[in-house]
Formats: sequence, C-alpha cells, structure tokens
Amino acid sequence: MSNRELAKRVYWVGAVDWDIRDFHGYSTNRGSTYNAFLIVDEKITLVDTVKRNHLGQLIENIKRYIDPTKIDYIIVNHVELDHSGSLSEMIKLVNPEKVFCSPMGEKALKDHFHDFDWPLEIVKTGHEISLGKKTIQFIETRMLHWPDSMFSFIKEDGILFSSDAFGQHYASLERFDDEADMPAVMHEATKYYANILYLFSPLIKKLLQTITDMNLDIKIIAPDHGIIWRSHLDKILTSYSNWANGKSEKKAVIIYDTMWNSTEKMARAVGNGLEEKGVPVKLINLKCNHRSDAITDVLESRAVILGSSTLNNGFLPRMASFVTYMKGLKPINKIGAAFGSFGWSGEAVKHLNDIMGELKFDLIEEGYRIKYIPTDANLEECTEMGKRIGQAILEDNNQ
Ligand code: FEO
Repeated sequence: MSNRELAKRVYWVGAVDWDIRDFHGYSTNRGSTYNAFLIVDEKITLVDTVKRNHLGQLIENIKRYIDPTKIDYIIVNHVELDHSGSLSEMIKLVNPEKVFCSPMGEKALKDHFHDFDWPLEIVKTGHEISLGKKTIQFIETRMLHWPDSMFSFIKEDGILFSSDAFGQHYASLERFDDEADMPAVMHEATKYYANILYLFSPLIKKLLQTITDMNLDIKIIAPDHGIIWRSHLDKILTSYSNWANGKSEKKAVIIYDTMWNSTEKMARAVGNGLEEKGVPVKLINLKCNHRSDAITDVLESRAVILGSSTLNNGFLPRMASFVTYMKGLKPINKIGAAFGSFGWSGEAVKHLNDIMGELKFDLIEEGYRIKYIPTDANLEECTEMGKRIGQAILEDNNQ
C-alpha cells in the first residue's frame, strides 16, 4: 500500500510546500503541506483543496487515480485560503453535483468568493451522506479555528478529516506518524497549537468531550497540514487534552530583550537560580528568537518570566510585539514574574506585570528592577528570585 493511501480507495492528493517560511507571522521553518483527500466511491469525493499556487500539484495528484472531471462531491471543511484557494478553479474544472460546507462555511464562502452559483449543500453536526459504500458524518467545530471549520468522518474506515486541528507545519514525503521523525512532528504539533489554537483552549476541551460522547471509532486522524496520525493517536489526543486544560511541564522560560545587556545579565542570574533548584529553564532573547517559537515555550512551561529594559516609559519594541502576540493567544495557568533594568522612569516591569495580571498569571513576585548596571548584589537578588520561582514550581500541585 502506497503512503498516499489512507484506506482502501481513500487517497492523499494534497501539496507539499517545501518553501514556506512565514504563515501570517508564524515562522514555518520546516515548510508545510496542504492536505487534500480523494475518496473513490460511487460518488467520487474531494475533501478540501490546496493553496492557489499549488493547484497544479493537486490536479496532478488526483490524476494518479481518476480523471478530475469525474469528481461528484467536494467537501469544504474550512474556507481559509490555504485550503479553499483552489476551490473556484476546481469547481470550474469538475462541475460537481454538490459542494458540502457548514452553515458558517456558506457565509464564509460568500464573503470570500462573492458572486457564485455553486451547488452548496449545508451540513450540520451529525448530518450524514452516503457516497456508496462509505458514509461521511459531519461535525461542526466552530471557532476551531474559524467559525466555518468542521470535521468530516468516514464511518466505515474510521478516518477523521480534522481540518487544522491536530496539524503541524511540516513538509515531508512521509505522510504517516509511524514513518516520520516523531520528536520533530510533536514539536511542530506543539508549535501549531501554541500559535493557532491556544486561545481556543476552552472550546477544544468541549470538542474533545463531544468526540468522546459521539463514540466515534477513530482509527486515523488526517489533518489539513503535516503528518497523518494512525499509530500515535493517543499521544496527540492526550497532548491536546493537556494543553486545553492548561497542563504544562515543571519548567520555566525566561523571555527578554535588553538594551545595554543589563537585563540580559539579570536574565542569566534568574536562570541560575532556577538551575540551582534543579528546574529546567530556557532563556529566549527576543533579538534572536522568533515570537512563534517563544510562545511554544510558553505553552510548555509552568512559569513565564519576562524581562525588558525600559524604553520611552514602556518596554522595548520586540517585547511589545511579543506581549501583544501572547495576549491574543491567551495562555492559561501560568506562574509569572518580571524583571528589567532602567535609567530614570522604569515602567517596563509594571507594564509586564499588568499584562500578565490581565492573563490571570499567578504573579508570585513583585518584579525586580535595577538602575542602569546591576551590581553583584543586584544579580544575587535575581538569582534568589529565580530560586523562589523554582521552589514554587517544584511545590506546585496545580496540574
Ligand atoms: Fe490551515 Fe485555518 O487554515
């Protein structure tokens, strides 16, 4: 069986994008894929399409199995243009009998493609259609991560087409979890959750419960990006449950920017304190790390410690960018602390505390500021602060 075949007469026909490095502000260092799937049954069905500039790959891949004009149905699980960018061209080519989408999908299609006369059929959670031997069941997943998003499930094969959920930006000719480099795939799945889904954690908790309640016999989860899950379903489902419930590891991340290296010295001293307590800690200098990697460490860490020099009564621009990004993604269940150097006004630490307070971080420190250049005694204070945070992490039972 080729690694393009998910089950009998169900094929991967998507596109691999080896070159993409930026996904609206999210760094995609390993590229991505736009997964689309073909079900060859009495009604030949295409599940999702690909980004517009990969239309050629989609058509070429469909032609491996059938003449694309023979497609009867198209399922639109999600209208974002990485999955519907080729929809208009595919509908022209195929002239399908039906195009299935959610109620919110209909609205989103009208707002994207405006005047069209497509044979839309609106489906809701629980709605089923027969393709002949196979049956598709639909599950609306509003706001995961767009209002229109939905899952489609082949009941006979146990294949869940999960749209963006459980995806990873990971370009690869391996298509299944048991073929791929799992630590790399899990890292990209974690990064995907942190950057795309984090703010929807309360809805993801409900979705996981809905799937359990529906008693679906899921054997394969096929997301629209990256590797398809068939041997490690437990791993990705447990990870989603942990992330959605705000569970993290007993470790800390120190994210900082520095003007004349004073805040950097403080960051290292705080890190030393955590190290002395035996708590794993990672230092992220925003000058040389991307915000989408920093937020991935936020997701994984129990404590988030932010440091910035004061500039113009606020914090440094890279920290401003990072905290704006972090606020939008709404991390949950974190211990927080702030530090930084200043020259005369020194507001950065207060502003960082305010933002973490809005996010309901547990602020176990007032925050530590020093003027211009830290003395050895100042750095010792930073190390003590790191030790106290480390101790709090070790004693923490809120997991
Ligand atoms: Fe991969 Fe929300 O599109």
